[in-house]
Amino acid sequence: MDGRSLKSVFNRISLVSITVASLTLLFLYNYPQLPCLSYHSSLQPRFPKSSCEANHREVISPEKRSKKLFSSKDSKKRVSSFRNFFQPLRDLGLVSNSSKVLCVSAGAGHEVVALLEMGVRDVTGVEVVDTPPLVSRADPHNLPFFDGVFDLAFSAHIAEAMFPDRFSREMERTVRPGGAIVLALEGSWSAGELKEFNEGLFGRSRIVDARNVMLTGSQVMMAVLKNGVPRQSEA
Ligand SMILES: *[C@@H]1O[C@H](CO)[C@@H](O)[C@H](O)[C@H]1NC(C)=O
Repeated sequence: MDGRSLKSVFNRISLVSITVASLTLLFLYNYPQLPCLSYHSSLQPRFPKSSCEANHREVISPEKRSKKLFSSKDSKKRVSSFRNFFQPLRDLGLVSNSSKVLCVSAGAGHEVVALLEMGVRDVTGVEVVDTPPLVSRADPHNLPFFDGVFDLAFSAHIAEAMFPDRFSREMERTVRPGGAIVLALEGSWSAGELKEFNEGLFGRSRIVDARNVMLTGSQVMMAVLKNGVPRQSEA
């Protein structure tokens, strides 16, 4: 195995991770302040009726908010792009309407909506920031699910994980033996790079299908891994 190219794959992943982590931190630090800042800088002197916090309490229901979130043209395009992306999985027999599917780092949940629209009834989306009712809050490095409960796990964001090896181990742990792990990896990957990615991060799975596809306007490598048998626990 060529250690140098494995290193370059990991370096590429680390660089993306650092950037995303920094942006996330900035976002988390700044975002909650914004409504209050704009209130305080308002030119009209007005007594606050309640605390800043109470002013911005969520009043619309999660269902309504979700409906609104996915009604824009842009959202519909994203959802339809995910539907096209997932279609081959159905053709390969990896997803049926009764599959239990997990979407890790699901963002606002466009992929969750796509799978539900395709007829998959049991879809779970997780993200570090929740978007009820479709995406719950969970740390992808420490998923709150028992071993082997999902038939398929999908993520388009393993490259941005703080610890890609923990992220991958959690996907392998929560998918049943024989189930599938599906990744959208940005950019183009050589067969060698993919193999080293597989061996470096997914020791219990092997790539059974890889193809270049478009996803939400970018070229990605769709990698399908078959999950192996769990490690024997010491008896
Ligand atoms: C799966 O669900 C979709 C959407 O509800 C439906 O059109 C399709 O017939 C279902 N497929 C099967 C095999 O039941």
